[in-house]
Amino acid sequence: MNAAVIANQAHEAEVKVSPLSAHIGAQINGVDLTRRLSDTQVKAIRAALLKWRVLFFREQFLTHEQHVAFSAQFGELTLGHPVFGHVDGHPQIYSISKFRKATRFEGQALLRPWTGWHTDVTAAVNPPFASILRGVTIPPFGGDTQWTNLVIAYDKLSAPLRAFVDGLRGVHRFAPPQGASGTDAFAKAVDDHTLVSEHPLVRVHPETGERALYVSPGFLKSVIGLTPRESQALLELLWEHVTRPEFTVRFKWEPGSIAFWDNRTTAHLAPTDIFDLDFDRQLYRTTLVGDVPVGPDGKPSVSIEGSHVGAAAAVALN
Ligand code: SIN
Repeated sequence: MNAAVIANQAHEAEVKVSPLSAHIGAQINGVDLTRRLSDTQVKAIRAALLKWRVLFFREQFLTHEQHVAFSAQFGELTLGHPVFGHVDGHPQIYSISKFRKATRFEGQALLRPWTGWHTDVTAAVNPPFASILRGVTIPPFGGDTQWTNLVIAYDKLSAPLRAFVDGLRGVHRFAPPQGASGTDAFAKAVDDHTLVSEHPLVRVHPETGERALYVSPGFLKSVIGLTPRESQALLELLWEHVTRPEFTVRFKWEPGSIAFWDNRTTAHLAPTDIFDLDFDRQLYRTTLVGDVPVGPDGKPSVSIEGSHVGAAAAVALN
């Protein structure tokens, strides 16, 4: 057997899916993400994403170009970030560095168990359908990321509460947590690219028909039609519920790790313990263009300010 045939067989190896918790997260083995995937591999990864919500890959040392090319096999890429920009020369890559200023806050935030949990860019009327995060510089300890499954969270509400939230909609925007203020860089970025949207509190998944509790704690500010007190009390109940540990998975990064999540059915928490450590942390993210969410009543989300998040041009793998 010649070397090319052996290499091709390795490339076609079976995608191995190893679940990591009861409701969310699976590690994927058997694929080399520096190479174009076969249709079978793409299908297997897509099916695993729908089932496990967030997929983890190890020892995939991708360049920015390979990260973009891997992502492009699953959808159209957005610009790195619609508000906070992208890496110079790499329009589809967003830098998640420990020391980035634009997304840091000042003052004493009112910290609660759901503080920092969010679904990516739900201030946009069409939040990305998926995010693909690549670890490059990783602290030896600390800096884990957590994800939660918003479908199981919906399913575990009582039937009367499910029926109540099914009919509600909320307003999502970029804003610092209560008690904190944005840096000048944050305020400028948000003013220059204002995004505010109304989404249903329950989102129907466009591929599976599942209902997800679409309550991104970092972005959802109020529930339409409720009094401020009712809105705050309901949101706190839902945020506490969606971040229950049994709905979550926690990932320990290594250089070369990749996390690929369905942004329609998950929220995640970036680590803050890294600020108590001297180690650096650098990751890079791509996001895939999403559709406009639809509630159980069939009503789509509505843009209040700002435009759709569209596609940026992608490159192909050899
Ligand atoms: C993100 O919110 O996409 C970044 C998560 C992380 O820094 O671990």
